[in-house]
Amino acid sequence: MASLARTFASSLSKRTYTSASASAPALKRFYSIAVNNKEEEQKNRNASGLMNKSLNTISSQSTMQMRHNTTNIPDFSKYKKVKNSGEASRTFTYMMIGATGLVSAAGAQATVTDFLANMSASADVLALAKAEVDMSAIPEGKNVTIKWRGKPVFIRHRTDAEIAEANEVQVSSLRDPQTDAERVKDPHWLVMLGVCTHLGCVPIGEAGDFGGWYCPCHGSHYDISGRIRQGPAPLNLEIPEYSFQDDKLIIG
Ligand code: FES
Repeated sequence: MASLARTFASSLSKRTYTSASASAPALKRFYSIAVNNKEEEQKNRNASGLMNKSLNTISSQSTMQMRHNTTNIPDFSKYKKVKNSGEASRTFTYMMIGATGLVSAAGAQATVTDFLANMSASADVLALAKAEVDMSAIPEGKNVTIKWRGKPVFIRHRTDAEIAEANEVQVSSLRDPQTDAERVKDPHWLVMLGVCTHLGCVPIGEAGDFGGWYCPCHGSHYDISGRIRQGPAPLNLEIPEYSFQDDKLIIG
């Protein structure tokens, strides 16, 4: 109410043609004009407020932008991908893949080489793999048994009579048919493993019904060529790998 009165007074003071003796319609019109002026003033004030708010927002944004602009941002332009650099990039990729493959292959080869070097037999083991026998120390008609790779080896220096006896046998009648020539390199020297082919016992030399070897475990008889002639053993005594070097017999 006080505000309305103030407005009215202001309107009166602004109008030069008003007088104290104004009529009721005139007063009404004055009042209407005053109200309209008040509404316009309010509108202007609102608009001004909005504008002030917007200006404040813009001002704060500008301030923030100015603050951002003060930050020292590094220049990354030299790291940017150059146009048409695809070919160079591909070449570099291929080169890297090739280099990686080469390094991997070299590493694998070194690993395999080391592994094989460790797995292969050493010199002392290889020396034990072979046995050397002085043949001149074995008289004719005598047996010698040596140990080779943990197994007994029978060496028989056969006489001519024994060779003839071995060749007289009817091969087709044998359980494990083999001629004497197939079992020896030199007819005077019979070399074979001293392991019974039945269950692995060691037969006795110059024994049995056929003048060769006899296995007492289950009664197998072998002839002068080491062929099974009687008993449960299924096969002839095994012939190992051997060779002659001068007057030496090399087994293995
Ligand atoms: S092991 Fe020789 S006969 Fe059985």
